[in-house]
Amino acid sequence: MLITSCLTSPKFFTGSSSPAPSKDLKVDEKINRDYSYKKAFMPRRELLYQEITHSMPPEKISIFKSLDDWAKDNILTHLKPVEKCWQPQDFLPDPAASRDDGFHEQVKELRERAKEVPDDFFVVLVGNMITEDALPTYQTMLNTLDGVADETGSSPTSWAVWTRAWTAEEKRHGDLLNKYLYLTGRVDMSQIEKTIQYLITFGMDPGGENNPYLGFIFTSFQERATAISHGNTAKLAKKHGDLKLAQICGIIASDEKRHEAAYTKIVTKLFELDPDYTVISLAHMMRKKITMPAHLMYDGRDDHLFQHFSSVAQQLGVYTANDYADILESLLATWKVETLVGLSPEGRKAQEFVCGLPPRIRKLEERAQARTKQPPMSVPFSWIFGRQVRLL
Ligand SMILES: [Fe+2]
Ligand SMILES: [Fe+2]
Repeated sequence: MLITSCLTSPKFFTGSSSPAPSKDLKVDEKINRDYSYKKAFMPRRELLYQEITHSMPPEKISIFKSLDDWAKDNILTHLKPVEKCWQPQDFLPDPAASRDDGFHEQVKELRERAKEVPDDFFVVLVGNMITEDALPTYQTMLNTLDGVADETGSSPTSWAVWTRAWTAEEKRHGDLLNKYLYLTGRVDMSQIEKTIQYLITFGMDPGGENNPYLGFIFTSFQERATAISHGNTAKLAKKHGDLKLAQICGIIASDEKRHEAAYTKIVTKLFELDPDYTVISLAHMMRKKITMPAHLMYDGRDDHLFQHFSSVAQQLGVYTANDYADILESLLATWKVETLVGLSPEGRKAQEFVCGLPPRIRKLEERAQARTKQPPMSVPFSWIFGRQVRLL
């Protein structure tokens, strides 16, 4: 599958390569111990991009500083005031309801509905939930971007306000799915919790280079990807007769669409102010391929967990290689990339590259599918107590 073909999954690295021998044994032992300890909390090195930092020319920081008022009027407006937001509790059994016909009854009904939902669907739902629950990583990522980072933790700039409020809105997604899955009794919560801990420990590597041009292109793409994915799980939940779950996935998808609108608007503004550098940034990001936020996923058992999860998502039509091409196509149209004029030769080359990319992605995917006609196999997922899911 194209989305994952460029990514290998993380492995809990326990290799035994030692540092250079030292005459001082105590120092040598200490280096050895520290080195292994660090490795225990890192994904395999080859999974990460070559580290490039602060790639945006420093003079461009002033663009983001000067856009603070614009962001207040155009980006913060995509947030919902806390009092108008839904909360996870609105969709979950009420623990304060009376024992007899309240909480227990509601949990019983929830579990009855979940009984009809197949295992492969649960794998995708768990993967989506784990992706949402690694939120600390995404807030960290946004705060690595030059010119828009929240420099104090409570900075009053519009960029910082956006990042904190966006994070707070997003927090409800993982909370809701996590509590729902816990109540179903269908999934192995401790394996799921372990996967979340690994994923936050490993972080992610979207190749943003501290560069807000790259960062906002990435978030525009990703918000749309999550909207598609949650939207499709909503449709499937409905098909399996769990209307409450369909409502949960649908309400999350609608948040993602609001977020997508905000990030896409930022990039539209960048195209307006600085088309040449923005189209070059877009081409740069697409050449690297857009990394999935949970690409370093690991559960302590399956070294290829992310590929396996992605294969199930592809198989169920929740998120596919064609969606990847569709997202790019739609963003190119929104940003009117094809009609940009007055570009430098490098800019024109970037424009040509990105505009020709969606059909190329589709063709490559078709060819890859035709080439890799493998017999179907089943893979055990620890999230569902090691039960097997068939991958085509
Ligand atoms: Fe989300
Ligand atoms: Fe989102």
